[in-house]
This record gives sequence, C-alpha cells and structure tokens, in this order.
Amino acid sequence: MSKTAPTKDPQSRAFESRILGEREKLKSSLEKLEQRVEQSTLGPKSKAILRQTLEHESIGHLSFGLFPCPPVVDRAKGAKMWDADGKEYIDFHSGFSVNVLGHCHPEVNEAVKVQLDKLQQFAELPCQVRAEFSEKFLGLLPWDYPKKCQITVTGGEAVEVAMKVSRWYTGKPIIMTQYGDYHGRTAGAMALTSKASMLAYHYPVLPGDSGIFRFHFAYCYRCPFGYSYPGCDIQCVKAVEYLFESKETWLNNPGAGITNVAAMIIEPFQSSAGYIISPPEYLQGLKAICDRYGILFVSDEVQSGMGRTGKTWAIEHSGVTPDLITAAKSLSNGLPISVCAGRKEILDSWGPTAHSTTYCGYPVACAGGLKVLEIFERDKIVEGVAKKGEYLAEGLRSLQRSHPIVGHFDCKGLYAAIELVRDRRTKAPAGPETGYVLTSCLDEGLIFIASGYFYNRLAFAPPFVISKDEIDHGLAILDRVLSRAEQKFDIKP
Ligand SMILES: Cc1ncc(COP(=O)(O)O)c(C=O)c1O
Repeated sequence: MSKTAPTKDPQSRAFESRILGEREKLKSSLEKLEQRVEQSTLGPKSKAILRQTLEHESIGHLSFGLFPCPPVVDRAKGAKMWDADGKEYIDFHSGFSVNVLGHCHPEVNEAVKVQLDKLQQFAELPCQVRAEFSEKFLGLLPWDYPKKCQITVTGGEAVEVAMKVSRWYTGKPIIMTQYGDYHGRTAGAMALTSKASMLAYHYPVLPGDSGIFRFHFAYCYRCPFGYSYPGCDIQCVKAVEYLFESKETWLNNPGAGITNVAAMIIEPFQSSAGYIISPPEYLQGLKAICDRYGILFVSDEVQSGMGRTGKTWAIEHSGVTPDLITAAKSLSNGLPISVCAGRKEILDSWGPTAHSTTYCGYPVACAGGLKVLEIFERDKIVEGVAKKGEYLAEGLRSLQRSHPIVGHFDCKGLYAAIELVRDRRTKAPAGPETGYVLTSCLDEGLIFIASGYFYNRLAFAPPFVISKDEIDHGLAILDRVLSRAEQKFDIKP
C-alpha cells in the first residue's frame, strides 16, 4: 500500500515559505562568494588566501557580511594596515574599536611577550598580573561607590555576566533593552540583541530567554515617534514610563508596587546599529525610571567605552551613574579580555563558580590590558581623543556642507558616523549608495564599516593614535568617493 505524504495546511506553508525566504536572503552560496573574490579588485596573493579560506572554513563567519569581498589583512601598525599584496589602508575601523592605541603597540607587545614566557594560562587561578589589572581597571570607573569586577573573555560573555548577576541580585526575571541594540551572539546575549538578521538565525528555536522586553532607542534623526529633537520633551522616555504606569504590561503592578524588572541593559550610544549618539536627557530619563522602580542600570560599553567618545565611558556624557558596565574590545589593544564591573554589593552577591569559562582572566591578556591602562593614564589618551574628535567633527561637517548625500552626521571623540540619504527632505535612506561608497573607499585605501537601521550609515572608529594628516587623508578619500556616488546615483541638493 503506498503512503501519501501528509499535506500541509496553507497557513503553515505560508510560515515556512516566509521564514525560509528570510533565511535564503541571508544565505550566500559558496559559489557566489567565490565569484565575489574573482570579481574584486584585490591583488593575486589576497585572492589566493581568500580562495584557501573559502575552501576550508565554514562561510558562517563575519567577513563576507561586512564587505562584499573582505581585504586580507597581512600586517598593521599605528593607524595603517596593509593587505597581503602590500596595499596600504588608512584605518577608520580599529578592528571594531579594538586596537585603540594603534596596531602592534610596542610597549603593549613587550608586556605580552614577557607574560607569555612567564605564565600563559592556568585554570583561571589568580595571579599577580590579573590582580593588578583588576585594581587598575576599577580605578577607571569614576563613580562614587565601592567597586568590583568579574573578568571574562569576550564582550558577549561580559553581557552574560551582567544578565545573570542582575537577576541573581534582584531576584527579578525581566531584562529591558532597546530595539537596535547589539550585545553579542552567545545564546543569552543574542536574546538581548535585536538585528533583523538574527530572527532568521534563531529559526527554528527562538531565543530561549522569555524575560527580555524592548523599547525604542533615541535615534533622533529618525525619531520612532515622529518628533524632532530638541523640543520633543523626550517622548521616547515617556513611552517607557507608560509601560510602568499602566497595568497592561507584565513589567509592573502599580497597585501592588511590584516590579518584575531586574535591569535595563542598554547601549548608551548604539554602535553596531551605526554609531548613533543619543541625547543626555534620554539616558537621564531612563535612569530616573530605574531609580523609581528599583531597576539596575547597566551600560554596555563594549564598543563605546574606554575613551572612544572622548570620555572614558560614553554614559559619562549624560552624567548618569550606572550600577554595572561591561567593557571589552579596547581593553587589551587586541587580546581577548572583557569585564563586567560596578557596584561591589551586586558583584559580591553570588558565590564561587557562579560564572566561569576556561580563559576567564587570561594572564597574557591581563598583561596587555595592564600596559594599556598605564599608557592611558601616562599619555592622557582620553583627553587626546576628545581633541582629535573636534578635528574629525569639523571634517565631517564640511563633508555635510558640500555633499547633499550626507543627511546627518554624529561625532563624539573618535566615535563618528555619517548617514547617507537620497534626499535630505524625505531622508530616504541611500542603501545601494552606501554599499558603493564602502567598496569604493576600500578600493582607494580607506577601511571602515557600513551599518545602520537602513544600512545607510558609515561608521568610523579610528585608532586613538591616528594623526591629523591621516584623518585628512581618510576624509579626502571620502570626499572624492561621495562625489562619485552623487554623480552615479544622480543625487542633487
Ligand atoms: C555593545 C556591544 N556589546 C557586546 C558585544 C559583543 O562582543 P563580542 O563580539 O566580543 O562578544 C559587542 C560587539 O560588537 C558590542 O558592540
């Protein structure tokens, strides 16, 4: 007797085709990536390495998502990078804001070499360099309360610690975060991260964390509520307040005075979403809500922290005191180390083994980190970033004046972005134009990334050691390429 396959009802077919369609868009076949390599303007050595990579590594890594065809980095020094064919690039990216003191900083490298020959790793057991690193790091937190830190390896892991310890300390289940935030791609942090592409990567199992609640970030150039800043009375904060005042959400029971929320874990400025800077009143408003309802305020400074914005922590621009912060990337100028730090009473509220991975407190990274922190202090690095930021902002302002495609720019310290539009009045996002500008700048020897809610932002995070000449060089490339984009896509004032 022949069996017929069960027919699916139209609704489940619709679901399947929708989600599979989404996944299809994210997928890029190996053949397509190989074609991109062959069609790129890269030299023969770079192409050979890319072919080798595609042959042996899963295509699930990041590089072909960042660039149509990624450059093959051979070596880097200061604010410059060279590819496998010797082509030089000005670095407006710092490997995602990691190599802030410049690539291959001699003093940091020396400290790392010494530690490599002394002790590399031993089961997370304490050692002197780690103890010194923690002490020095806590000295970077300007807030007036007793402090502690938990050392981890990646930014996502530091966020996991913040999530776990906030729930442990408060005994409450919900973590609030912002649409557009990026907090990492480990399972816990990924539940906090909102990127459209994540939705399809979650399929068929959605994030296992049902205690995540989102609200809108203050993206003032495209206010989700249709207001203009200033003069909006910070409606975005009012919208969050409303969630607590009504009894129609499961966040809060106003009658009983019970709040279910452990923490707000937010990016003060949204980095992966395109280096978007929020106004201080927004962060102050969120903090006031946290204070009113006994919610912990956690500032994820993995990308915005350690001087990038011209202050040690981005949250300092608003004067808000966070209960915890997370930091990573720039901590060791290129070695994997991250930290969740803040109020002692929170970080001492749990017990041994509450969090662990094999490389937590990796002594070699601690040695690099300790040297980075010494250099920060000795060379007044953060003050230098603030000054260079003013210079960069002036350059971006001038690009905005001369290019109708530049709808808006953000800049604090060396944390900067420009937003490309087809028309300044309608603010129609210039998506294909953005892709063109990214690739053309790369061809001309300037590296940065493109991102944004509408993939129309160019995000700039140069190393803190970049010189004015190098900034000028980068801006001159941008200027030329923007003119070409305006011509090619017929963008007029
Ligand atoms: C704000 C923020 N949090 C967390 C992360 C995750 O860090 P990692 O990639 O080291 O896990 C990132 C990475 O870009 C980030 O920008």
